[in-house]
Amino acid sequence: MQHPIIAFPSRAASGNGQTSPSHLPLPLTPLLGREHELAQLTALLLRPDVRLLTLTGPGGVGKTRLGITVARDLLTDFAAGVYFVPLAAINDPDFVLSTIAHVLDVREVGTRSLLEELKGALREKSLLLLLDNFEQVLLAAPRLSDLLAACPHLKIVVTSRAALRLYGEHEFPLSPLPLPDLKHLPTSGALSHYAALTLFVQHAQAIKADFQLTEANARTIAEICVRLDGLPLAIELAAARTRLLSPQALLARLSHRLDVLTGGACNVPARQQTLRATIAWSYHLLTPSEQQLFRLLSVFAGGCALQAVEAIAQAAGHAASTALDEVSVLLENNLLRQVEQVGVGDHPGIRAGVPGRHGETGSDPSSARGLLPGARRRGRTPVTWTPAGQLGSTTGTRAGEPEGGAAFSSGAGTCAGKHAGRRDPDRAGVASVCRPVPVLV
Ligand SMILES: Nc1ncnc2c1ncn2[C@@H]1O[C@H](COP(=O)(O)OP(=O)(O)O)[C@@H](O)[C@H]1O
Ligand SMILES: [Mg+2]
Repeated sequence: MQHPIIAFPSRAASGNGQTSPSHLPLPLTPLLGREHELAQLTALLLRPDVRLLTLTGPGGVGKTRLGITVARDLLTDFAAGVYFVPLAAINDPDFVLSTIAHVLDVREVGTRSLLEELKGALREKSLLLLLDNFEQVLLAAPRLSDLLAACPHLKIVVTSRAALRLYGEHEFPLSPLPLPDLKHLPTSGALSHYAALTLFVQHAQAIKADFQLTEANARTIAEICVRLDGLPLAIELAAARTRLLSPQALLARLSHRLDVLTGGACNVPARQQTLRATIAWSYHLLTPSEQQLFRLLSVFAGGCALQAVEAIAQAAGHAASTALDEVSVLLENNLLRQVEQVGVGDHPGIRAGVPGRHGETGSDPSSARGLLPGARRRGRTPVTWTPAGQLGSTTGTRAGEPEGGAAFSSGAGTCAGKHAGRRDPDRAGVASVCRPVPVLV
């Protein structure tokens, strides 16, 4: 049996024996690692000038989990309590204030707007709000500024794939869990100190109680975690597969990682049950043009330079200036990752990588092919070489170089749903899902 991940108590005891109102979900598994981030976040939130802090990062990196822990650690610092406001189910920015009001039990009375009611209710209160999953309601961000301006003792922690871009916002980009160096692998004892490996083992033990990290399986489990980039959600999903697969068999199959990473606990949000769904969540928040660019980038096997992105975008009809803006949006939403590399290729200090195999992404091959006359030729010009081992890149193809025939051979995993549309909230439709977290370097 998988452990349920979260339960909902109404109150929690604080560390010094007093009780403070807590309206936080209670994770039922221990937080692993993250000591450094916790210390940094707590220190930041105790600073009087830090009123709004946004935890950013790709889906499944652990933003919610860390946000809850930080909020819990700060229970005694907010006399009026800490409140968790789940926004995952909300697509319309207009519902953000009403969701906050609902959690705080604030009601609209008479002619006063909900914003005025909330300001009135919170004006004198020392209170921490944890707004979870803000990425699909980013247009509501200015309302948070209004609240913060009117309520001097209010602080807000937001989890979001993308920053809110508000004045006074402190962004805290969350990285995946640290990973061991496979070339100089420590002993299994030392490896057990890596949160990524412990997470795998704990979730495997939830299925098989006698599962252990041993000298015999340590390298394989380390390789699995490295292959999954230290992404906690991916590690949990992979560990769930130990019901049927040995770690060795699992590792072998991870070259098709999106097909393997299903079967999470049924009591986590549906969008988290597969990695593919997690990526779809981000993808559906893009405009059609940004979605198209993201699909285009999936032809790069291991990464590409910015020039290659521009070339491929222009070949598909995007204006050069628009393409750069769209790249920024993909970066902000953690669908692309930028990796600094000094003195490589045509762009000293910057290069791009799109990790993973196209065949794993479930992107719509026909749409990519149709959009890309001559893309293979053009994409080749500014290439640099892909760093090994990123996000399941196992093909040995060159960064920036489309994978050729195989790149267009997979069509699995289209996904339907109402688009939340950050800039076009009413847009609805069906879209195919591209690879997870391409890397722009
Ligand atoms: N440091 C950690 N220790 C234990 N489990 C973690 C840790 N970070 C994340 N997880 C687990 O990984 C999964 C994804 O984390 P979550 O916080 O939901 O990611 P995000 O909010 O970034 O999408 C959850 O089941 C969560 O409990
Ligand atoms: Mg989350």
